[in-house]
Amino acid sequence: MRTTVGIIGAGPAGLLLARLLHNAGIDSVVLESRDRAYVEQRQRAGILEQGTVDVLRAAGAGARMDREGLPHDGIELRFDRRRHRVDFPALTGGRAVMVYAQTEVCKDLIALQLKEGGPLLFEAEALAVEDAGTDSPRVRYRHEGRESVLECDYVVGCDGFWGVARKAVPEHLSRVFERTYPFGWLGVLADVPPSHDELVYARHDRGFALLSMRSPSVSRLYLQVPEGTDAADWGDEEIWDELERRFETGDDWRLERGPITQKSVTPMRSYVHEPMRHGRLFLAGDAAHIVPPTGAKGLNLAVGDVVTFARALVHLGETGSAERLDAYSETCLRRVWQAERFSYDMTTMLHRAPGATPFDDRIQLARLDRIATSRAAGTDLAEGYTGFPLD
Ligand code: APR
Ligand code: PHB
Repeated sequence: MRTTVGIIGAGPAGLLLARLLHNAGIDSVVLESRDRAYVEQRQRAGILEQGTVDVLRAAGAGARMDREGLPHDGIELRFDRRRHRVDFPALTGGRAVMVYAQTEVCKDLIALQLKEGGPLLFEAEALAVEDAGTDSPRVRYRHEGRESVLECDYVVGCDGFWGVARKAVPEHLSRVFERTYPFGWLGVLADVPPSHDELVYARHDRGFALLSMRSPSVSRLYLQVPEGTDAADWGDEEIWDELERRFETGDDWRLERGPITQKSVTPMRSYVHEPMRHGRLFLAGDAAHIVPPTGAKGLNLAVGDVVTFARALVHLGETGSAERLDAYSETCLRRVWQAERFSYDMTTMLHRAPGATPFDDRIQLARLDRIATSRAAGTDLAEGYTGFPLD
């Protein structure tokens, strides 16, 4: 098989890229190792930055998001039994976010691709990217028990952190920047209306907690847990008791409980692979970088990468200039590092690390108090949360 752009992975990065290229009249083939049901059910974060919302709408993939997504104008920070609301539009000149789960973004893009786009092969596992340094890179893959080759003009590795694309960058050209955190998130889905109409990020001496949502009737909640925790070790009532403690306030706010339908633990890591391009292989999304979920930047960064690639390829077609394609890695990495910084700041401000001292606790509280009392500090958080510009 032959195509202009070979895309490995049908997560949000690969699926959106295929859509953007289709809209620009550029053909592509998407190879995804898992089956459709798996990709559509994998639980991930659910906050779309203003820029992501705009991109999905412009790509013709925003109809259900606009009907079912929940526009949010702020978040609440909770610390020391106090509550502080960060008002996004007031601090950013009108920017906001949308609560719409990544699973739903993927379902919408898969449906569009199968109806209108080029080939999207499920259970097609890329084995290796070859000849990335030449003008005709190839993806070797296995589909329906047979090995085949996809001949491409460009390959985009959208195959997540555990994918194969990154391995095609020669080791002596790669630099990896990494930090793992000695804690994770225990995430639950619960059939109960969210106890607050906006997300609540809580810093507590017992650890971080987050109240989020999937719909007006489904809550998504997280607890900071020690690294290596098994979700099965936590009973449902134990989870609610702990959430209640960490969300405690000085007023009459109450946490509503309901049946927990899903439980899992996510590890926390910051990771960047540089460069994001080698020859005609481009890395996008989690294949190139990971952020800890505090601040929900992962999906939004993936969107930024593929928009940058698609625009650069269109620019080449229109002008004959490869300048933007050549600048891909540099352009993306600037935004990636801003998101890495933001996610790191949010994570270290809100989580209690093992061995944290009373001094560390006071510094966290002072950082939160600063956000609550200084417009400049509040604006910095609001700008980071609603997203860094694409250009
Ligand atoms: N061949 C084909 N597909 C592969 C291979 C392979 N060898 N390896 C991995 N994949 C697929 C995975 O099954 C997955 O569907 O690549 C896809 C990668 O998707 P994501 O992990 O969702 O990554 P990305 O599209 O970059 O989206 C980033 O995902 O992890 C979250 O927080 C992150 O929200 C962010 C988003
Ligand atoms: C989620 O809803 O899953 C979510 C929201 C905000 C975050 C992380 C995850 O910062």
